[in-house]
Amino acid sequence: MNTQLLSPGTDTYILASDILKSGGLVAFPTETVYGLGSNALDREAVLSIFAAKGRPADNPLIVHIHDRKQLESICEVPERAFPLMDAFWPGPLTILCVRKPAIPDEVTAGLPTVAVRMPSHPVARAMLQACNLPVAAPSANSSGRPSPTTAAHVMEDMNGKIPLIIDGGMCDVGLESTVLDLCHGDPVILRPGGVTREMISSVLKCDVSVAGSVLRPLRENEKALSPGMRYRHYAPKAVVTLVQGPEDHVVPLLRKLCLEQEARGKKACVLCFSEHVEQLSACHPHDIGPSSSPTEIAHRLFDVLRRLDEEGMEMVFSEVVPPEGVGLAVMNRLGRAASFRTIQA
Ligand code: TXA
Ligand code: MG
Repeated sequence: MNTQLLSPGTDTYILASDILKSGGLVAFPTETVYGLGSNALDREAVLSIFAAKGRPADNPLIVHIHDRKQLESICEVPERAFPLMDAFWPGPLTILCVRKPAIPDEVTAGLPTVAVRMPSHPVARAMLQACNLPVAAPSANSSGRPSPTTAAHVMEDMNGKIPLIIDGGMCDVGLESTVLDLCHGDPVILRPGGVTREMISSVLKCDVSVAGSVLRPLRENEKALSPGMRYRHYAPKAVVTLVQGPEDHVVPLLRKLCLEQEARGKKACVLCFSEHVEQLSACHPHDIGPSSSPTEIAHRLFDVLRRLDEEGMEMVFSEVVPPEGVGLAVMNRLGRAASFRTIQA
């Protein structure tokens, strides 16, 4: 199949809408990461998403809408979701709702809930408006690779497998949406993202918990609240190790660990804050952004992780951020890239 890479515009939206209506797949930018979309009501189309990504069938998809009226036919919205939709939609918050029969089993992997979100990216909104369908879309990467934050990343993974990629430039947030469960008692964040625990808590005026496996591996026999948490995600081919502790200990230890690996003939590098790039210049530093801005680190992270593979890195040592605000989402993705392997400096 020939994969077209097109700029946004009326003709592109008409083409995207035609493809979606006839059961095809379209990759499109959102404010979080690029999505790989199909008509959420078309079982066969949904199945072809799983095939293109190599995604396990038991990992459910998020349904994207542009208008709250679309919810009516696809789900029942829990009461507490409304103030959150008022505050954060359109935007990077996904809310679990009770699924209605219009949504095929393939979308929800048989679960009684369906995850819905209204993206804010103007290109995503225009495409959703043009087709006027609920669009099921996981991130547009091959399963197991970091999510794509540029059209070039999507091309790396999907070239030849889908008819159309809409190029909307680099995604703003850079990490996937926050996934929030309001259907099973107290609110629980299943996956942290751009809408933080603190932001949700201030709207709901109550404590919001975070699934335990966000910052550690799933324990044996532990049930994944969100099936996606079971899978090795965001992982480059290299062995990644996180190094935490006081700054004046972390930087020298990063250098020592990296140079030791190089002495053993391994291709090694460090992921470090902008302010440490110079001190670590002997260690192929990859600048993840200033330590003062977890938002900037989120924006860059997946691009940096993808480059490690291109460069053939084997051993990678990374700085960490405090797991607060957007830092929680950053540490969830970095932690999983490292299989939560951590050294204390
Ligand atoms: O920002 C995003 O959310 C992007 C863009 C394209 O919107 N999409 C995305 O989709 O990241 P995906 O499929 O890569 O991640 C969806 C996550 C998975 O961890 C999945 O297990 C979880 O949401 N999920 C979906 N439906 C669920 C449900 N009914 N119950 C629990 N978890 C669910
Ligand atoms: Mg994904």
